[in-house]
Amino acid sequence: MINKTILLLLLHMIKMTYSEYGSTNVMIDTDTVIETISDRFLSVTLDTSTIQANWATLNLSSPKVQVLAKALSPCYLRVGGSSADYLQFNQSSESERYPKVSKEFMFTDHINNKLTNFTMIPRQWDELNGFVEMVGWDLIFDLNSLLRQNEQWLPDNAKLLMDYTTQKGYKIAGWELGNEPDVYRDVGINITGAQRAKDYNILHSLLNHYSQWKNSVVIGPSVTMLVKQISRKYLQDFVDAGGPDIVTNPTFHHYYAHGPSMTVPKFMSPDILSNLPWQINVAKKIAPSPLYGKFWLGETSSAWGGGAAGLSDRYVAGFMWLDKLGISASLGVDVVVRQTFYGGNYGLIDTKTSNPNPDFWLSYLYKKLVGRSVFNVTMEDKTGYVRMYTHCTHTQRSDYKPGSITVYGMNLRSEPTTIVFPQFKPDVKLHLYLMEPVGVDSLKSQTVALNGRTLTLNPDFSLPSMDYPEVVSSNFTFPQESFGFIVIPEANVAACKVSS
Ligand SMILES: *[C@@H]1O[C@H](CO)[C@@H](O)[C@H](O)[C@H]1NC(C)=O
Ligand SMILES: *[C@@H]1O[C@H](CO)[C@@H](O)[C@H](O)[C@H]1NC(C)=O
Ligand SMILES: *[C@@H]1O[C@H](CO)[C@@H](O)[C@H](O)[C@H]1NC(C)=O
Ligand SMILES: *[C@@H]1O[C@H](CO)[C@@H](O)[C@H](O)[C@H]1NC(C)=O
Repeated sequence: MINKTILLLLLHMIKMTYSEYGSTNVMIDTDTVIETISDRFLSVTLDTSTIQANWATLNLSSPKVQVLAKALSPCYLRVGGSSADYLQFNQSSESERYPKVSKEFMFTDHINNKLTNFTMIPRQWDELNGFVEMVGWDLIFDLNSLLRQNEQWLPDNAKLLMDYTTQKGYKIAGWELGNEPDVYRDVGINITGAQRAKDYNILHSLLNHYSQWKNSVVIGPSVTMLVKQISRKYLQDFVDAGGPDIVTNPTFHHYYAHGPSMTVPKFMSPDILSNLPWQINVAKKIAPSPLYGKFWLGETSSAWGGGAAGLSDRYVAGFMWLDKLGISASLGVDVVVRQTFYGGNYGLIDTKTSNPNPDFWLSYLYKKLVGRSVFNVTMEDKTGYVRMYTHCTHTQRSDYKPGSITVYGMNLRSEPTTIVFPQFKPDVKLHLYLMEPVGVDSLKSQTVALNGRTLTLNPDFSLPSMDYPEVVSSNFTFPQESFGFIVIPEANVAACKVSS
C-alpha cells in the first residue's frame, strides 16, 4: 500500500518535472506582424572618451577591425556618452599638438570620474568619417550641450564642426545633443527637460541651414534608465515642451545593473531581465508612437560603469544581449544601440587583441538570420526561464527562402528543455544554430562555438562561414544554460513572403 502511494507520488513528480521543465510548447501568431524594426535595428556605439584617448588601442586602419565592423553593416554608429559634453572641435593648427594616445583609458562618467574638457582635431574627425564610410556604417554624433550662454545652448562649436563636415562632404546620418541630462545634477548642473527641448530647437534651426541635414535623424533626450521617477519626469517635461517633432526618435539608456555588482546568476535572472519591458512600456506611455517617433535604446548594455569585468565580454553576456534584442523588437523599439563596439568591459571586440567577443558572433548571426517583421510568441512555460522571440527570416542576408521564420531565445534552466511547435506538422524541419561556450571557463568563457565549432576569424581576417545548421525534425532539446536560433524554412508564413 505504502509502496504504491510512493510509486504514484514518484510518477506524479516525474510527470510534473516533465511538463514544467522537460518540454514547453511555443505558439507563434504568424497571422499578424506586431512590429517592423529598422534594418539598422542592431547598432553600436563608440564612447566619446575613445576620441579623448585618441582611439586608445583601437586601430581604425586595421583590416581586422574593418572586417568586423563591415560584418555588422548596415548599422548606426553612435559616438556619444558623458564625455560628449566636454568635447570641442578645434581647427587651429596649434591644437594638433594636443592628442595623446592613452593606452589605458577609463570610461568616464559623472559618478566615478571627473570629466575634463578636451579638443577633437580635424584629423580625428577625418579618421572617424573615413572609417564609417569604409565599413558602411551611418554616423550619429552627440554634440556638446554644455557650451551655453544665458542658459541657452550655444551652437557655435557645432556650427564649426558642421561647416568643416560639409566642406569635406562627410555624410552624417544623425545628431544628438548632450548625454543623460537627468543626472547633470551630479556635477552641479541643472538644465530642465523644458530647457533641453529649447536647446533642441536651436539644434533644429542650425540643421535647417544645411540642406543635407534638414531631414536627418535627431535623437534625444538620452535620459538614463527610467526606473527613477525624476528621469521619467525629465522625459515627460522634454516631450511636453518640445512636442512630437522635437526629435525623430526619443531615446533612453538602459543597463540592468552596476558592473561591479554583477554575477553569473544575475546575468541569467528572469527577474532582472524583466526590468527592461517595464521601462520600454513606461517610455511608450510618455511619448506614444505614431504621434512621437519610435523609441530607440540610445545607449545600452548589460551593466553601467564600463560593464562587468570578466562577465560583460563573456558567453554569459549573451543572455542579456539576445533577450534585450527580442524584448525590444517585440515592444516596438526601432533601434538598439549597443554600448560598445570597442571599449570598456562590454565591447563587441576585445580592447587588447581586437578579436571578436562572444556578443560579436551573436550580433553577426542575429543580423544574418533575423528579419524586420516581428510576431507575437506565447510560451506555455510562464516562469521566464525559457524565452523565445520570432521574426521573419532575413532572406537577403541568409540563403533562406521567403516564408521562413526565425525563432530565437534561450534556456536559462540548469536542465535541458524540449521546445515544441504544435502549429507545424509533426515532421517539420528545424534548422538549429546553437551557441555554446568553449572550455573550462564555461559560462565565463570568452570563446563561443556554433553547433560545436569554435568561432574565430580566419587567419586572413575573413569571417568564418556560419552556414552549417543542425537539421532536426519537429522539436528539439535545448541544452541547459544556452541560447541560439531556430530557422523554420518550411513555415510558409504569408507575411514573410512580401519583401520587407
Ligand atoms: C594600424 O593598422 C595598420 C594596417 O594594418 C598598420 O599599418 C598600423 O601600423 C597600425 N597602427 C598601429 C598604431 O598599430
Ligand atoms: C582652438 O585652439 C586655439 C589654440 O590652442 C585657441 O586659441 C582657441 O581658443 C581654440 N578655439 C576653440 C573654439 O576652442
Ligand atoms: C569646460 O568648458 C566649459 C565651456 O567653456 C566651461 O563652462 C566648463 O567650466 C569647463 N569644464 C571643466 C571641467 O573644465
Ligand atoms: C532646476 O531649475 C528649475 C527651474 O529653473 C528649478 O525649478 C529646480 O528646482 C532646479 N533644480 C535643482 C535641483 O536645483
